[in-house]
Amino acid sequence: MDAGHEPSLILLCGLPGSGKTTLAKRLANEIPAVRLCPDEWLADLGIDLFDVQARDRLEKRFSQHAQELLKLGQSVILEFGFWSRTERDEKRLGARALGAHVELHYLAAPIDELCRRLEARNEKGERGTAQITREMLEPYAELFEAPTTDELNLFDEPLLGRRG
Ligand SMILES: Nc1ncnc2c1ncn2[C@@H]1O[C@H](COP(=O)(O)OP(=O)(O)OP(=O)(O)O)[C@@H](O)[C@H]1O
Ligand SMILES: [Mg+2]
Repeated sequence: MDAGHEPSLILLCGLPGSGKTTLAKRLANEIPAVRLCPDEWLADLGIDLFDVQARDRLEKRFSQHAQELLKLGQSVILEFGFWSRTERDEKRLGARALGAHVELHYLAAPIDELCRRLEARNEKGERGTAQITREMLEPYAELFEAPTTDELNLFDEPLLGRRG
């Protein structure tokens, strides 16, 4: 199948403040693709953005929905952050099984830069964005499993933009 015609699953990987939502909004228009953003949905449903169980359930439901959309030929962007290789492998294999194109965009920035961006975002207090401080970000960065070049090469070349 021509990569230009098959639906795409786009995974946006990176820590808070790395720019996933910003990039997702742009790609959603350009591709076009349906953007599934847990933070926005949790906020709209009146659920605490730090309710880990609710987030986990929502992400599982979004993943099923993404598969349904891909089957219908609709491209999808998941902006879950994808901190672990296991999650990324699962999504890549699931999309490939449907014959979809699958991209991993890894957004990296130094922790000081992430903190600067998050401080500015926290001040605005936009709906659907989590208030994240340096004290929270530092342990997150320890847990985050950055994709290697070998892993990035397992994904398809981005149709638009770069991988990060
Ligand atoms: N490439 C960039 N350079 C500088 N600032 C950026 C860049 N991308 C996004 N920003 C700014 O940084 C802030 C965080 O970006 P964004 O909300 O897209 O991050 P995120 O990865 O979605 O974070 P979260 O995981 O908390 O949802 C925003 O205020 C945005 O305007
Ligand atoms: Mg976001």
